[in-house]
Amino acid sequence: MDHDAYRKLSIERWERTASGWGAQRERWSRDTAPVSFRMVELADPQPGQTIVELACGAADVGLLAAELVRPGGRAILTDAAEGMLDLAKARAAELELPGVELKAMDAEWIDLPAASADAILCRWGFMLLADPGASLRDCRRVLRPGGRLVLAAWAPSHENPWQEIAREEVARFTEQPPPTEPAAGVPDMFAWRDPATIATALQDAGFVDPHVEQVDMTLRYDDADDWWDTLLDMSGALYDALVQLTPEQRDELRDAVDARAREASRAEDRLELPARTNVAMAEA
Ligand SMILES: C[S@@+](CC[C@H](N)C(=O)[O-])C[C@H]1O[C@@H](n2cnc3c(N)ncnc32)[C@H](O)[C@@H]1O
Repeated sequence: MDHDAYRKLSIERWERTASGWGAQRERWSRDTAPVSFRMVELADPQPGQTIVELACGAADVGLLAAELVRPGGRAILTDAAEGMLDLAKARAAELELPGVELKAMDAEWIDLPAASADAILCRWGFMLLADPGASLRDCRRVLRPGGRLVLAAWAPSHENPWQEIAREEVARFTEQPPPTEPAAGVPDMFAWRDPATIATALQDAGFVDPHVEQVDMTLRYDDADDWWDTLLDMSGALYDALVQLTPEQRDELRDAVDARAREASRAEDRLELPARTNVAMAEA
């Protein structure tokens, strides 16, 4: 894999998708709240401490932790895409929390002093990086000894039908191999689906006692149209795949995904799709 080409494409996609994430911010924050709460619980922030969030997007997790480091603490919210960081900036301004700092920063090169953070949080970021090992080693450098790293990475795609259905059907129409089990070392939202991959990556970076668990959520939509529009708002890769299809193929694809989504729904009058993530914690 050409790491530099991937980094460029990835950030370009995130910049392009930031307005869609802005449109979906409230719903995403609500539906993913069980993960935010568990991550903050594991990080255990205390008044006066410094916490850092990497690849923060709208910073649901970091802003929750920012409440707990008051008084006197700092929450440093970072993302490589300026458009995504702007979402965190807007939310931080709404909440008027003291001690919140925003910094455009690549998670692979953490521009913070050694041993300066008590906890680092990163929800659904590491498995998307070209070199997650480099990022984890830098996290360890930035954490004080005993400081905690808490991360989330999606569980296998069959436990996340809200994504799997779209990915499988798009792959079928674009005649790509099903992307549900990406090869080792290739950045992908499901690259860290196996808890053992996460534990090994943490140990290889020098972290001790990695603990990995699963957290379940329900993603709620009015109907299949609402789900599909949300996916398109939030996924640059899906959008890029769809533009390769003819209008007829897109119609056929929609019929196929709608039928599968309705089948997977936990509710009849709405669309409620299950989601599962790994959440991991380890000490520096
Ligand atoms: C799936 S989103 C997760 C956003 C947020 N953490 C959440 O849980 O809602 C991935 C985020 O990673 C950011 N990102 C991607 N590559 C990055 C990199 N190399 N360094 C820092 N952030 C990056 C994107 O801009 C985007 O905000």
